[in-house]
Amino acid sequence: EEESLKALYKDAFHIGAAVNPLTIDSQRSLLAYHFNSLTAENEMKFSSLHPEENLYTFENADVIAAFAREQGMALRGHTLVWHNQTPDWLFENETGGKAERDLLLERLRSHIQTVVGRYKDVIYCWDVVNEVISDENDESAFLRPSKWLDIVGEDFIAKAFEFAHEADPQALLFYNDYNESNPHKRERIYRLVRSLLDQGVPIHGVGLQAHWNLYDPTLDDMRAAIERYAKLGLQLQLTELDVSVFRFDDRRTELTRPEKGMLELQAERYESIFRLLYEYREHISAVTFWGAADDYTWLDHFPVRGRKNWPFLFDESHAPKPAYERVAQIP
Ligand code: XIL
Repeated sequence: EEESLKALYKDAFHIGAAVNPLTIDSQRSLLAYHFNSLTAENEMKFSSLHPEENLYTFENADVIAAFAREQGMALRGHTLVWHNQTPDWLFENETGGKAERDLLLERLRSHIQTVVGRYKDVIYCWDVVNEVISDENDESAFLRPSKWLDIVGEDFIAKAFEFAHEADPQALLFYNDYNESNPHKRERIYRLVRSLLDQGVPIHGVGLQAHWNLYDPTLDDMRAAIERYAKLGLQLQLTELDVSVFRFDDRRTELTRPEKGMLELQAERYESIFRLLYEYREHISAVTFWGAADDYTWLDHFPVRGRKNWPFLFDESHAPKPAYERVAQIP
């Protein structure tokens, strides 16, 4: 059997995987052998946990927390404030109009108390706020338009961190986003986190989702992003790494197996990525893949429905791919 990733990287950073109740079952031995950190793929999002004002549904999240406890794995919480997978009731008042600022903040506080409190014993860090920075190229763009921003104003971000800190003073609190290596977005994320720190908001880390592919982003942009975020003096984590064999705008659906050369290119790509991460291991505390092996990934449905993307180090039968070999030889 191949060497375990978590053992190989034990002096550098955690090796994590996003899971759900199905993959905990179907990928159990792979997860237990190679990974020492987990994230719930969907089960701890607002809509999953709290679909109605007076209804919490913890079943699926509890399955993941139980697996982490049983295996002695680190568990990341994902996520408390997001514009997706968040129920409509949250933003409406009793008469069906727009919720008032105070009402929305009180609901957020109460949700965070309940959820963060419940998993305090096992979750060591939370993605408190997810994807609030704008993707626009327009120089003046900063925050993404959302109901949170519309109803509360910019301080919904600071408030979320304060509520999370109050609920679990020991938890490490992260800001998490994608396109994090894009130079425009990089500066905006830096500016947001810098200003939170200047206001004394409890924030301890920056999560780089790292939904990458064989071609984008460039290694130089990845390095520049890591350099820049490291200057904040916070810990960095890759939180949702995958390396699709397709460019984001490649909409082909006909491949039933990777083309000749794709897996070799992917191996080279993964090698350069992990060399970079290893170089910055003083700053990087965890590298989490958004899945574990090519039999299951959200990329099977996004951005193109019904095609494989083969983004991981392990293939559809959980055997190590060429990319695994390259990553394993670095430490
Ligand atoms: C994705 C899940 O993987 C999918 O199953 C779901 O349908 C949509 O959300 N950024 C994030 C993650 O922060 O929560 C998203 O997860 C992927 C993009």
